[in-house]
Amino acid sequence: MADYFAVQGGKPLEGTIRVQGSKNAVLPILAACLLVKGETVLHHCPMISDVEDTLLLLRKLGCLVQREGHTVRIDSTDAADLSLCDGTASTMRSSVLFLGALLGRFGHAEVPKPGGCAIGARPIDLHLAAFRQMGVCCEEKEASIYCHANTLAGAKISLPLPSVGATENILLLAAVAPGTTIVHGAAKEPEVQALAEFLNLCGANIYGTGTDTIRIEGVGRLQSGHCEYMIPPDRMVAGTLLCAAAMTGGRICLKNGRAEELEVPLRLLEETGCRIFIRPEEILLAAPKRLCGGCTIATGAYPAFPTDLQPLFMSLLTLADGTCMINETIFEARFSHALELCAMGADIRIRGQSAVITGQKKLHGACVYGQDLRAGAALLIAALAAEGESRVYGCRFLDRGYEDPQAVFGALGGTLIRKREKTII
Ligand code: EPZ
Repeated sequence: MADYFAVQGGKPLEGTIRVQGSKNAVLPILAACLLVKGETVLHHCPMISDVEDTLLLLRKLGCLVQREGHTVRIDSTDAADLSLCDGTASTMRSSVLFLGALLGRFGHAEVPKPGGCAIGARPIDLHLAAFRQMGVCCEEKEASIYCHANTLAGAKISLPLPSVGATENILLLAAVAPGTTIVHGAAKEPEVQALAEFLNLCGANIYGTGTDTIRIEGVGRLQSGHCEYMIPPDRMVAGTLLCAAAMTGGRICLKNGRAEELEVPLRLLEETGCRIFIRPEEILLAAPKRLCGGCTIATGAYPAFPTDLQPLFMSLLTLADGTCMINETIFEARFSHALELCAMGADIRIRGQSAVITGQKKLHGACVYGQDLRAGAALLIAALAAEGESRVYGCRFLDRGYEDPQAVFGALGGTLIRKREKTII
């Protein structure tokens, strides 16, 4: 049965809203809880399906897991070194991050081979190459990857590209591996910095996150007992809300919005004519009557323009006066939303990894299908800006990363209702 959002578009989104906790920060931190032999308490933990699925994996491994609203308590004292090769893990990419944590806790690990997804092949060769340099034997089986730490030791690792996941997996293992690990060419994303902050809170010695070179002095095992951490706000959800307000001619105040993590997207929003006001832990945006185009966006590793906001900005630019170009340099198949936006009246031409967008005065409602998390979000904000009614399918993708879109956008004046397609038997 397919769920969809029935959207009545054309109303400006206005109001004040708190940004949910970050999906891409909490997922590696949940894996890191396996390295803390005791209780971890995480606050501001988003209520999204990727988190719920990861909590299920932790329970499968024998952890005690309790959720009280946005606070999650995890006790991994009795965690067991079981394979994650069944059901849930195979549908989630973030189960790859359990490799580093399970190796660090038990000395061996088996996780399902992460399939590709709608946006690209998503290989993990860099993760495994780094593990092999640290003395881990990695065996790629037909449907899973089995790793065991023969002679685990710190190593000098040079990443040929700043992979977020590979950097995070290295931090998880090197935090407890004997000796020092140096990572050159590390990812600098805020989510990597949050993971290091959490690990250091639990007794690790990690230095230099946010720069190209990270040094980790392994400590054997993290402190047991009690660790407590506040998950940072989700910069992609913040960017989504800002684009939604900009597209609908609205005004929005994001509580706990971290402008320093969105420098390039905020600058681009100003280029389209939005007025942006920054206050400590607050971002205010007032949209212009008509967005102006003429910009060129190239996605890249942090602090460049984030690939996860590329679909959202493509939606926005369909209403910007003039022609814009987007070059997607990170993932090879991340334009699935373009065709759907054209069904709403957008003018987008795709040439390889580039999209040329010619702004229109309006979009009209249509039946559209989100095929991945951010594409679904892009279509939802386009439907909120379009004239007339839309049906946005792909709720299960949105559920992975966005808490209750109906409530969030409804609180800002949007008219949308989640419905279930009636199947005719
Ligand atoms: C993380 O994915 C995020 N996911 C993605 O967010 C985000 O788009 C991506 O980083 C880039 O910022 C989570 O944090 C859970 P990468 P990850 O390793 O770690 C290639 C969302 O919408 N690569 O930085 O998988 C890879 O193919 C999601 O929230 C290799 O070639 O991204 C890609 O082209 C989507 N070999 C590039 O690097 C490897 O071993 C970036 O991948 C690993 C990656």
